[in-house]
Amino acid sequence: MHELHEPGAAAGSGGHGRTDIDRLIDERVPGYSLAAPFYISPEFFARDIEAIFASTWIFVASSAEVPEPGDYLTIDIGAYSVIVIRDDDGEIRAHHNVCRHRGTRLLNDLSGSVGNIVCGYHQWTYTPSGELISAGVQAPGFDRSCFSLRSVNLRVIGGLIFICLSPTPPDDIDEVADVIEPYLAGHDIAGTKVAAQSDLIEDSNWKLVMENNRECYHCEAGHPELTCTFFPTYGYDPDEIPKRLQPAYQRYLDAEDQLHANCDRNGLPYALVEELTGRPTGFRIERAALDGKGESYTMDGSAASAKLLGDLDTFVLGRASLHVQPNMWFHAMGDHVVTFSLLPLAEDKTLVRTTWLVHADAEEGVDYDLDNLTTVWIKTNEQDATFCERGHLGISSPAYVPGPYAPTESQVDDFVTWYIERLKAHREQRTVQLEGVERRSTGSRAEGSRADGIQENEARMEAESS
Ligand code: FES
Ligand code: FE
Repeated sequence: MHELHEPGAAAGSGGHGRTDIDRLIDERVPGYSLAAPFYISPEFFARDIEAIFASTWIFVASSAEVPEPGDYLTIDIGAYSVIVIRDDDGEIRAHHNVCRHRGTRLLNDLSGSVGNIVCGYHQWTYTPSGELISAGVQAPGFDRSCFSLRSVNLRVIGGLIFICLSPTPPDDIDEVADVIEPYLAGHDIAGTKVAAQSDLIEDSNWKLVMENNRECYHCEAGHPELTCTFFPTYGYDPDEIPKRLQPAYQRYLDAEDQLHANCDRNGLPYALVEELTGRPTGFRIERAALDGKGESYTMDGSAASAKLLGDLDTFVLGRASLHVQPNMWFHAMGDHVVTFSLLPLAEDKTLVRTTWLVHADAEEGVDYDLDNLTTVWIKTNEQDATFCERGHLGISSPAYVPGPYAPTESQVDDFVTWYIERLKAHREQRTVQLEGVERRSTGSRAEGSRADGIQENEARMEAESS
C-alpha cells in the first residue's frame, strides 16, 4: 500500500503545505498513465470525492427515472447522500438526504415514491420541495421555515439530470447546455420510460472505468457484440487507420453520408464538439453512424424498439453520443436511449449504472424485446469490467510504472488532463480560503474577539469541507 500524507500532516506545513498528493499532481507526465497512488490510495480517493465529485457537475439520472410527483432516487457520493425527487409541481429537485433535526438519513432505498419525506426517527416531515411541514411539539418561537432540507444544485439538460454538491457550482454548465440540448431535443427524453436498468459494481478505481470508456483501442479484440454496430475506427486519425480496418472505415464513410442526409431532414445537429479540457464541465458530443443497418445498438444494427422517439421520421440516425466529465457517457438512437453513470464507491470499487429508455408508449413483448434491447451493452459492460478490474490489479503491483498513451487514446489523455486541472483548481481554491482564515485569525487574536474566533472556525470548516 502506498502511504500518502494529506494536507496538514506535513511537518511545518502551516496546515496546507505541499504533500505527497500535491507532489504527484504536479509531477503528472502528459501522455502517460497516472502514477499508482492516483488509483489505489484511499487518500487520493478522498481527494477525488472532494475535488471532483463534490465540486463539479455529476450526471445522476434521466427525468424518465422520476416520472411522477413524489418519485425519488437516492444517490450516494462518498459520505454524501442526495435525494433527487419530483415535487408536486412537477419540478425535479435535489436535497441532502439528512434530517434537519438530528441528522438522520431520511430515505434509505435506492428509489421509490413518497407523498412527503418523513424521517423515521422522530417523524419530522418535509414536502418533496424540501419544506418542513411537521416537527411535533417544539419550543415557542420554533420557526419551521428555518429547517427546510438543505438543497443541492440541480440542472436538467434535455432530460438528463445533473447535480453539483458545491454551493458554488461551475457556471459553465449554461454554455454546455446550450451546445448539447439541440442534439438531445429530437429524442424527447421527457417522453421516454425506463425499459431496463443494470447496476454493475466493478472492482476498479473510477478513473480506470472512465479511461477505458474513452478509447476504443480495445474494442476490436474485446467487444465482439459492440463492434457489430460500433465502428472500430472510433478515435483513430483518418490518416492513421490500420490497413485491416480500412474496409470498416469505408463502410463508415458511406454510412455517414446517409446519416447526414437523414439528420438534415430531421433538423438534428451532428457536428463533433469536443471541449474536454480547460473548463470545469468538460464535454464531447457528436452524432455518428452505426454499422450494419445503422439504426441501433443491436447485434445486426436494426431498431430494438418499434416506436420512434419524438417526431423522428427514420430509425437510421446512428448514435448521438455525449460524454461529460467526470462520470457520464450516453447514446441516443432513433428507437432508444442508453445512459451510463459512474459513481465511485471506494478507491477500488465503482458503480456503473446503465439505463435503457424507450418511447413511453412502447410495450415490452410487443414493441421491444428486453434481451434484444439490452444484450450489446450488458455484454460490453461485462467485458469492460474485466478490463478495468485487471487494470486495477496490474496497477496495484509494485512493478507498475506509467505507460504511454497511443494516438487513438487522446481522449484518455484529455480526461486525465482535465482531472489534474480540477485537482489543481480545487487546491488553489482551498489555499485561498485557508489563507483568508489565517488572516482573519491573526486579526481576531489582535482584537481578542470571541465572535471573530467563531467566524474563523466556521470559515475553516467551510474551507476544509470544500
Ligand atoms: Fe429526523 Fe429526529 S432526526 S426527526
Ligand atoms: Fe470497452
